[in-house]
Amino acid sequence: MSDKAVLTLEGKQYEYDIHTGSEGERCIDITNLRKETGYITMDEGFGNTGSCYSDITFVDGAKGILKYRGYPIEDIAENATFVETAYLILYGELPTADQLRSFSGALKEHAPLHTNLKHHFSGLPSDAPPMAILSAMLNMVSCFHPDILEVHTSGKGFDKSAALLLSKVRTIAAWVFRMAAGKAFNDPNPNLSYCANFLHMMFSDPYQEYIPSPVIEKALNLFLVLHADHEQNCSTSTVRVVGSSRANLFSSVSAGVCALWGPLHGGANTAVIQMLEEIQASGRPVTDYINMAKAKNNTFRLMGFGHRVYKNFDPRSIILKKAVDDVLQELNMQDPLLDIARELEEKTLADSYFKERNLYPNVDFYSGILLRAIGIPLNMYTVMFAIGRMPGWIANWRELHDHKQRISRPRQIFTGSNTRSYIPLEKRT
Ligand code: CMC
Repeated sequence: MSDKAVLTLEGKQYEYDIHTGSEGERCIDITNLRKETGYITMDEGFGNTGSCYSDITFVDGAKGILKYRGYPIEDIAENATFVETAYLILYGELPTADQLRSFSGALKEHAPLHTNLKHHFSGLPSDAPPMAILSAMLNMVSCFHPDILEVHTSGKGFDKSAALLLSKVRTIAAWVFRMAAGKAFNDPNPNLSYCANFLHMMFSDPYQEYIPSPVIEKALNLFLVLHADHEQNCSTSTVRVVGSSRANLFSSVSAGVCALWGPLHGGANTAVIQMLEEIQASGRPVTDYINMAKAKNNTFRLMGFGHRVYKNFDPRSIILKKAVDDVLQELNMQDPLLDIARELEEKTLADSYFKERNLYPNVDFYSGILLRAIGIPLNMYTVMFAIGRMPGWIANWRELHDHKQRISRPRQIFTGSNTRSYIPLEKRT
C-alpha cells in the first residue's frame, strides 16, 4: 500500500506522507499543504482533523473501544482505583506499591486549601454556578504556589503540580457544595481514601461524621475512573490549545473546566437528568420526546445520546448501565428515572432515525442516575466530571510540552466585506 497520498490541484500533483498509529489508524500529513499549494483544508468542528500524536488514550469509535495507556476500560473499571488510574494516565504505567504509596501521600499532603483561598468562597453568592467557581479557584490555586507556575513537565515540579491539582480539585468541589448549602467547610481527613475523603468533605456534619458504605465509595470510584480521559475531546483540546501558548498548567485546566461546562459536553450529565425529570413530570409518553428529537424544525435533542467519535455503543455507558443496576439493588433503592432511561434506550435502538445516525447512549446517559444514588446534588454533576477528567487534562498538557507542540493557531476562510473606507459619523445613515 502506498505511504503517500496524492492530491491533484489545478492540474498539478502533490504528495503527502501517510502516518500510521500504533492501532492502525491513519492520517495524511498536510503540514506543508498551504506552503506548497496556497490552499488550506476546511473541517468545521475538527471532525476529521488530527491535532496531535498522543500516547495516552485510544478510542475506536466504530468498534466501541476505549483504552487508557493500552489497558481496556473494562479491565481498568473492574480492577483499578481512581488514584491508580490517575497515576497510569499521568505516568504511562500502573504504579508499583511504593509508587502508589508515595503518590497517595502527595494527594493527602496537598488536600488542604490555603486559608486565604478559603476566604474567597465567602464573597460569592450561594447560587453561583459551581463550574464558574471551580474554574476560578483552580486558577487561583496557582497564586499560592508561585514555585510551580513555570512549566514543569518532569521531576519534582511536575509531580507536585499534578498531585496538587488532583487533590485540590476535590477539596474545592466539596467546598463549593458546602458553600451553596450554607454549611461549614469540612477539612480533608488524611486517613481516608481519595473517594471517602471527598464524600466526607461533602457530607460530614459537626456532630455526625459521614462514613460512606463500600457500595457508594466503589460507585464514586467507578464514576471517576470512567471519566479520567477521553483523548481529544472539547475540554482536553481546550487545555492543549491554551497550553500551546506555554500557559501554565493551572490556567490551562481552568480553561478546560469552562469548556466542559457546556451541555453538549460535560454539562450533558446534568441535562440528561433534567430531561428525564421533565419526561416524568409531564406524564407524556417517551415517544413524544423521541419524536421531538427527530423533528427537523425542533432544536430539542435527546441528551445523553450521540457522540462525535462513537458510532457504536460508548463502552462507558455499558459499564455505567450495569453499575447503576447493581448499586440500586445493593442499596435497595429504586429510581423511577432509571425506568424512563431504559425505555428511552430501548425505543431509540429500534428507531430508524437513531439507527441511521448511529446515535447510542453516551457516558452521560446513565452517569447522572449513578450520581443520584451516591447522593450528589444535580448542580454538582459536571463538577464531578471535572474531578474525574483532571488526570487526562494534566497528562495532555504535559504531552504537548514534551512533544514541543507548536502554538495552536487554525486558519479561516474569510467571508466578510472586502476593503471599505471609513465613513465619518455625520455621513452614516
Ligand atoms: N438527539 C437527536 N438527534 C441527534 C442527537 C441527539 N442527541 N445527536 C445528534 N443528532 C443528529 C443531528 O441532528 C444530526 O442529524 P442530521 O444529520 O439529520 O442533521 C446527526 O445526528 C449528526 O449530529 P451532529 O450534531 O452533526 O453530531 P456531532 O458529532 O457534531 O455532535 C454531540 C455530537 C455529542 C454533540 C451530539 O450527538 C449531541 O448534541 N448529543 C447530545 C448531547 C450529549 O449527550 N453530549 C454528551 C457527549 S458524550 C460526553 C462528552 O463529550 O462530554
